[in-house]
Amino acid sequence: MARMAKIAAVSAGMVLVLTGCSSGDDQPSANNSLGTITAGSLTVCSDPPFAPFEFEDASSPSGYSGFDIDVSDAIATKLGLKLVVVDTDFDALQSGASLDAGVCDMGASGITITEDRKSSIDFSAPYYDSLQSLLVAKASGITSLDDLAGKNIGVQTGSTGEHYANENKPDSATVVSFPSDGEMWVAIQAGQVDALLEDFPINHNHAKADPLYTVVGKYQTNEQYGLTFAKGKNPTLVAAVDAQLETMRSDGTYDKIYDKYFS
Ligand code: ARG
Repeated sequence: MARMAKIAAVSAGMVLVLTGCSSGDDQPSANNSLGTITAGSLTVCSDPPFAPFEFEDASSPSGYSGFDIDVSDAIATKLGLKLVVVDTDFDALQSGASLDAGVCDMGASGITITEDRKSSIDFSAPYYDSLQSLLVAKASGITSLDDLAGKNIGVQTGSTGEHYANENKPDSATVVSFPSDGEMWVAIQAGQVDALLEDFPINHNHAKADPLYTVVGKYQTNEQYGLTFAKGKNPTLVAAVDAQLETMRSDGTYDKIYDKYFS
């Protein structure tokens, strides 16, 4: 999302914070025992669009839907908190900057757990297994990364896909970085880039939505998504979220959300 729109989204989030009065399901939150930045709320940073994990949805109370959003909402509800979603630049989210600045309590944005990121971010237990992939226009005739010699590959700034592209592209290919999947999708449609290298579920979703595009490569990078927290700041919240992730797996909530977006 463009910067201005993001700022607007942040203020919309603030309004929600101010007007939102939540009532606890499992635990009283009035005393803010989990130390969230706004008592009664779980404020979550995410970078939509990244469907099916996060996308705008006017019919949803938080303004967003998707696998990450529904998982976060279920966790918030179980903790007696109201979910507030703040649209955040991905690069600032994956670096830990947004979390350190206290913009949100938790990141939920298809964020891959990496050793590098672990030095600046606390992660929950893994909640989704993922991999990289290559999307092209069917008419391009491109069938592999090697076919991209002399061509442009669109990626998201700060993403594991950007890293993978830089490591594995043909020498003469150019990696073009965009702030979000929204700009990447527009760029391939405009012919500004010849391929998109990003997480498979997202490229798969693009190909499903538009039959002119197809996924020609899947790369087994063994990635796992984790929810993220400011490094060392709130171990109580990390533990509470991990406990709820476990409960969700055993009580069927996780499977229900998974089936909603992936079956
Ligand atoms: N899984 C990749 C990473 O961690 C990409 C995540 C991008 N997420 C998003 N909501 N745009 O780098």
